[in-house]
Amino acid sequence: RIYQIASIPGDGIGVDITEAAVQVLNTLSATLRTFQFDFKTFDWSSDKYLERGWYMEPDGLEQLKKHDAIYFGAVGSPEVPDHISLWGLILPIRKALNQYVNVRPTRILPGTKSPLENVKNEDLDWVIVRENSEGEYSGQGGTSHEHSDHAVATEVSIFTQVGIERIMHFAFETAKSRPRKKLTMVTKSNAQRHGMVLWDKVFYEVAKQYPEVEIDKMLVDAMTVRMVLHPKSMDTIVATNLHADILSDLAAALSGSIGIAPSSNLDPTRKNPSMFEPIHGSAPDIAGKGIANPVGAFWSAAEMVRWLGEEAAADALMKAIENVTAAGVKTKDLGGDKNTKEVTEAVCAEIQKL
Ligand code: NAI
Ligand code: MG
Repeated sequence: RIYQIASIPGDGIGVDITEAAVQVLNTLSATLRTFQFDFKTFDWSSDKYLERGWYMEPDGLEQLKKHDAIYFGAVGSPEVPDHISLWGLILPIRKALNQYVNVRPTRILPGTKSPLENVKNEDLDWVIVRENSEGEYSGQGGTSHEHSDHAVATEVSIFTQVGIERIMHFAFETAKSRPRKKLTMVTKSNAQRHGMVLWDKVFYEVAKQYPEVEIDKMLVDAMTVRMVLHPKSMDTIVATNLHADILSDLAAALSGSIGIAPSSNLDPTRKNPSMFEPIHGSAPDIAGKGIANPVGAFWSAAEMVRWLGEEAAADALMKAIENVTAAGVKTKDLGGDKNTKEVTEAVCAEIQKL
């Protein structure tokens, strides 16, 4: 079987880690010989935007739809305002391809540890389920009196019952599939009294269909404290687009580095290709130095392989990544002294040994 993969390296370290991920995926398929990847690279980036005035071609989404999955690096450049780059590339893909779920697993990998003394490796094992299509990132609002000294801007969050129900079902199914069967729901429904209150309400309604899942509810501010002080008390976490975006960076930092954290943008209906990317951005501060941690990219690649139905191959790739971190082959952000290329080659060698 040949999987058609659209690859969008994007900007900064997105380019380095996508190249590394493609190398690892090709090594995986060449070693297992049960399937192959056919990559098509799309050169949609901030440099191209500056050159031609757009990120994606007008029929870009149609082109992406022809693939089995999308692999994404990162987008963002000091030369382009971040809201232009995000809305020029990643957000339209997530929205148009109905990728309404963003799954962000967090664990501490062997041979690494949390920067916090109190967080033991076995204590932190979470899956953050992020609503990926609406809420605070609906893109609705506007600015008036823009060029005066009394500008007014609105940023409207949109929450729909349908949107909340579908993310809740996904979150409950995820929680149910895990040994601890626990789901923590996060909002800020004390200060935000409409959309967030609807979240809470739908959560409790959907919960009735999952009696085997233990539930609890947190306000997002208190949640940051609980994540730091009592990581073991949680398992699966469901939160809105903005809250989960923030909490997942915190989760990644607690687990060692933002450089290891993966994400899957899923269309659970499978009518459109899903998209896999590390959670980090283009990291202009380390771009071009060859030192970016590729582990988040490899883990995202493993999640892609799993979504494509190749469970055994996904497990093998994760095992290879973990053997490499366990052996101390790590980039600087994890306290190691290896570069992107060295970690990539170590993972490829490990795959060939399995
Ligand atoms: P960032 O995630 O790019 O970087 C934050 C910090 O983490 C930096 O110090 C960076 O060096 C470090 N870091 C990130 N990934 C790393 C890796 N793999 N290995 C080692 N260190 C790593 O976030 P920042 O600086 O807020 O954003 C930079 C640009 O990326 C902006 O233009 C932003 O809009 C964009 N961005 C894009 C995302 C996407 O494409 N999905 C997600 C987040 C940010
Ligand atoms: Mg983020």
